[in-house]
Amino acid sequence: MAREFTSVGVVGLGTMGAGIVEVFARNGVNVVAVEISEAALERGRTTLTGSTDRAVAKGKLAEADRDALLSRVDFQVGLDALHAVDLVIEAVPEHLDLKQRIFAELDRVCKPEAILATNTSSLSVTEISVATSRPNQVIGIHFFNPAPVMKLVEVVRTVVTSADVVADVEALCKRLGKVDVTISDRAGFIANALLFGYLNHAVGMFESHYATREDIDAAMKLGCGLPMGPLALMDLIGLDTAYEILDTMYRRGGRDRRHAPVPLIKQMVTAGLLGRKSGRGFYTYERPGSPVVVPDEYTPVATESALADGTRGITKVGVVGSGTMATGIIEVFAKAGYEVVSVTRGAEKSAKVFEAVKTSLNKGVVRGKLSEADRDAALGRINWSATLEHLADVDLVVEAVVEELSVKKALFASLDEICKPGVVLATTTSSLPVIDVAMATQRPADVVGLHFFNPAPIMPLVEVVQTIRTSAETTATAKAVCAALGKTGVVCGDRSGFIVNALLFPYLNDAVRMLEASYSTADDIDHAMKLGCGYPMGPFELLDVVGLDVSLAIQRELYLELREPGFAPAPLLEHLVTAGYLGRKTGRGFRDHTRR
Ligand SMILES: NC(=O)c1ccc[n+]([C@@H]2O[C@H](COP(=O)([O-])OP(=O)(O)OC[C@H]3O[C@@H](n4cnc5c(N)ncnc54)[C@H](O)[C@@H]3O)[C@@H](O)[C@H]2O)c1
Repeated sequence: MAREFTSVGVVGLGTMGAGIVEVFARNGVNVVAVEISEAALERGRTTLTGSTDRAVAKGKLAEADRDALLSRVDFQVGLDALHAVDLVIEAVPEHLDLKQRIFAELDRVCKPEAILATNTSSLSVTEISVATSRPNQVIGIHFFNPAPVMKLVEVVRTVVTSADVVADVEALCKRLGKVDVTISDRAGFIANALLFGYLNHAVGMFESHYATREDIDAAMKLGCGLPMGPLALMDLIGLDTAYEILDTMYRRGGRDRRHAPVPLIKQMVTAGLLGRKSGRGFYTYERPGSPVVVPDEYTPVATESALADGTRGITKVGVVGSGTMATGIIEVFAKAGYEVVSVTRGAEKSAKVFEAVKTSLNKGVVRGKLSEADRDAALGRINWSATLEHLADVDLVVEAVVEELSVKKALFASLDEICKPGVVLATTTSSLPVIDVAMATQRPADVVGLHFFNPAPIMPLVEVVQTIRTSAETTATAKAVCAALGKTGVVCGDRSGFIVNALLFPYLNDAVRMLEASYSTADDIDHAMKLGCGYPMGPFELLDVVGLDVSLAIQRELYLELREPGFAPAPLLEHLVTAGYLGRKTGRGFRDHTRR
């Protein structure tokens, strides 16, 4: 019989603790909520009532249920109040000595059979447990932020945690409506071990002015479907907490430089910019604790007139290529009202592209998103050609030919001879340096990267890649074109992987390494990222969709350019590619897709 938990204690009512109290009280469990001082207790109470009031306002919680929920919580200062509870969850700041002191005290105060749990994100549960006389009753129960919303709980079992304690805690998680994954005691467990390298890398991009905070966040939200961008997530986690987690992971996790906290984080913590909880972090919030972002001195100002910043007018666009990307890009421009000249390597290819564009537009008509007249008008705006000379009078050329530098350079050299002066020349390359392509022309200031995502008609993001030779006018024009296409253009530097792939693929590679090390299973890792961090797909699902060969190629490029040891492709990824397990396209990747 699983143990009954009729009352639990929560120690520390900050970002996590207040949410954990809410989770228990919502599920009918009495909670003793403990803080260090009256003032801190009051802050915790305000956080809880703020959250439950919002749930009532959104119609997600009845007023009577809120009142019942709040009546189950007993707010107290000091650990002595926990003498009668069945389980304690500690959620104080991420410092080993503090947690050890609290556990020693809990051991003294709590009844002998009580389970003592820590919500630590990165510290060793084992080291915390040895501060007590009952290490076999100590366990990690790692909730995710915001605790009432995120479905995942990581249950961390040390080598001495007894099996019935693990089973009881797993049963409790189910009662709370959570999905648990049980793992052993390793720095960062599953989710944070995969998340924090990515977050730190994103802060590094911001610190080095590689892209703005808005563009980094928009890129990951729109390019990967994440619920929030990495810098907004750092603000939600709290920069002080994030710093401690990174620092611990660096020390415990093999001194991987990717976990060495970017200096800016420490500076922000010292300056009191802790994120949402202090009202300011990477963004500025309405008031401390508020989720509402308000404009500050870094908020980009929308220019009144598109032409004010030297943007060039674009009406006629050339698209070179006949593959998936070119086809999608032709459709996007034609639908947005641009006159398009499509240049392929022959009439046969043009006919295929024409059919593909027509089929795609027809789908829009069937779904009621496009009228027949608009479809015909869009098709009518496309001119089909097999000679680059027809690009003599376009205002913008978008190149989407094969991903080979020699081919792209030869093409840009030809465009340089054919196109009129002032034309913006764009490449859709996803992995080659844009500057190499630019230097094949006599006009590198007019060359920019326009990295569309697949499928181009659907994906809302375009990375606008500016080289060290791209002029401000060219970048502004490219951004304005993205806006006219109804897409978000994010501006970044000319480095391998731009923003999205540089942040996404090392994370996927880390997931492969975690699987390779037998720390967890592909299913649990996928679950953890979806339910703990709100990712639309787990890393192994995504790798199988993207293709393991494509992923390996991108990871190799990142490694070669940045020489970061942690970016070295995981041997398991290499082996699967060598074995021909490339993902869905071959029927097998990390999973077997031939069996349903
Ligand atoms: N922030 C996140 O996103 C997140 C997610 C999962 C787990 N965690 C983990 O949860 C724990 C708490 O992190 P947080 O972000 O909520 O921190 P926080 O700084 O927001 O809150 C910590 C709270 O602990 C209180 N406290 C400090 N000393 C105390 C004591 N001796 N007795 C009682 N209360 C005390 C503080 O007053 C504060 O309210 C950490 O171990 C962290 O790694 C954090």
